[in-house]
Amino acid sequence: MDLADKLMNVIVITISLLALFFLHQYRFLNSLISTARTLFKENLTGKVVLITGASSGIGEHLAYEYARRGARLALVARRKRRLQEVADVCEIIGSPESVYILGDVSNIDDCKRFIDATVNHFGQLDHLVANAGVAPVCLFEDYDDITKASPAIDINFWGSVYSSYFAQQHLKKSKGKIIVISSCAGWVFAPRTAFYNASKAALISFYETLRIEFGTRIGITIVKPGFIDTEMTEGKFLSKEGRLEVDREMRDVQVSLMPVESVEKCAKAIVESARRGDRCLTVPSWMETTILWKVFCPEIMDGWNRFMILGPGSSYRDSPSKKILHVVNEIKQLLLP
Ligand SMILES: NC(=O)c1ccc[n+]([C@@H]2O[C@H](COP(=O)([O-])OP(=O)(O)OC[C@H]3O[C@@H](n4cnc5c(N)ncnc54)[C@H](OP(=O)(O)O)[C@@H]3O)[C@@H](O)[C@H]2O)c1
Ligand SMILES: *[C@@H]1O[C@H](CO)[C@@H](O)[C@H](O)[C@H]1NC(C)=O
Ligand SMILES: *[C@@H]1O[C@H](CO)[C@@H](O)[C@H](O)[C@H]1NC(C)=O
Repeated sequence: MDLADKLMNVIVITISLLALFFLHQYRFLNSLISTARTLFKENLTGKVVLITGASSGIGEHLAYEYARRGARLALVARRKRRLQEVADVCEIIGSPESVYILGDVSNIDDCKRFIDATVNHFGQLDHLVANAGVAPVCLFEDYDDITKASPAIDINFWGSVYSSYFAQQHLKKSKGKIIVISSCAGWVFAPRTAFYNASKAALISFYETLRIEFGTRIGITIVKPGFIDTEMTEGKFLSKEGRLEVDREMRDVQVSLMPVESVEKCAKAIVESARRGDRCLTVPSWMETTILWKVFCPEIMDGWNRFMILGPGSSYRDSPSKKILHVVNEIKQLLLP
């Protein structure tokens, strides 16, 4: 056993190092292929797209981008009024037909119902966009009842999985795609987001495995947005009591000075990426390079995270991330009349 291990060490390390020599050529080939994919982007005219969490934020704007490209839409969320308005706008800006279906993605029966309803109505399904999500923001040790954190996993993870489960047979018929909205914000301002981070990391692992299982039958694009200008970054978090509440002060602590990307740009990048059939997309793209910090000096990232978000004080109102934001805002007000 010991010998086998030693042998493997030598073989694997040698092969890996040799492979590095071809990295450059491999990347070049890859960029050629991705250019080719840009030339043969999917034509969305008349395609049927189901979007969960379409009543606000990224989901709402994804609906508009799909509508502009002529797709037929099924919009799912829990707020009826908002969905109705989004569906109306979609038809005005170019969708031949947009319907909305009320549903809670954490409920398996709802997921079956909205997938069936979509296919019964339109006769097909081409894209499933698993976008619905909530962000619990609370320190692990501050929960009085830990079960109040479970909606995060039920909605973010199981909601996407249930929808994909019922959609797969229809997507195979249309050689369709699943677009899943994960996150890459987790490593920047990590404290208080353990459950959010876990639910989004689970999505990445799950869909990377599904991609291998499905092969060319169903395309899978995993999207990792950074901070995007939506109700979530306005401070709509899942409280420790398990309720969706807007907490501006907590927002200032958790998001602070991080640049927040426009939701329109983000949605446009996602739809174009889905049309190309990308494996992964990070928006804004610079977020991807900052991962290097996490890889090469994780200790510094962790320390920085702890210091900025938790700070030396006992109350989150004293966190350095919030103080810095306050100072910068004061300066801005002085300089910009
Ligand atoms: N904003 C960011 O900075 C950011 C960064 C990374 C990832 N993301 C991800 O992007 C996705 C969209 O978030 P957003 O930023 O656009 O926030 P948002 O404006 O709060 O939108 C969340 C959407 O999800 C829906 N939703 C929540 N719970 C649901 C449930 N149980 N069943 C069905 N729909 C549900 C909401 O609609 P109803 O309340 O009407 O049901 C709403 O349409 C989320 O998965 C989020 O984690 C966002
Ligand atoms: C996309 O498809 C529609 C109908 O299937 C067709 O009318 C249109 O010309 C196509 N657009 C492009 C750019 O190929
Ligand atoms: C979760 O947090 C860890 C630690 O900060 C980070 O390395 C990882 O990228 C995050 N994952 C997601 C999906 O945000």
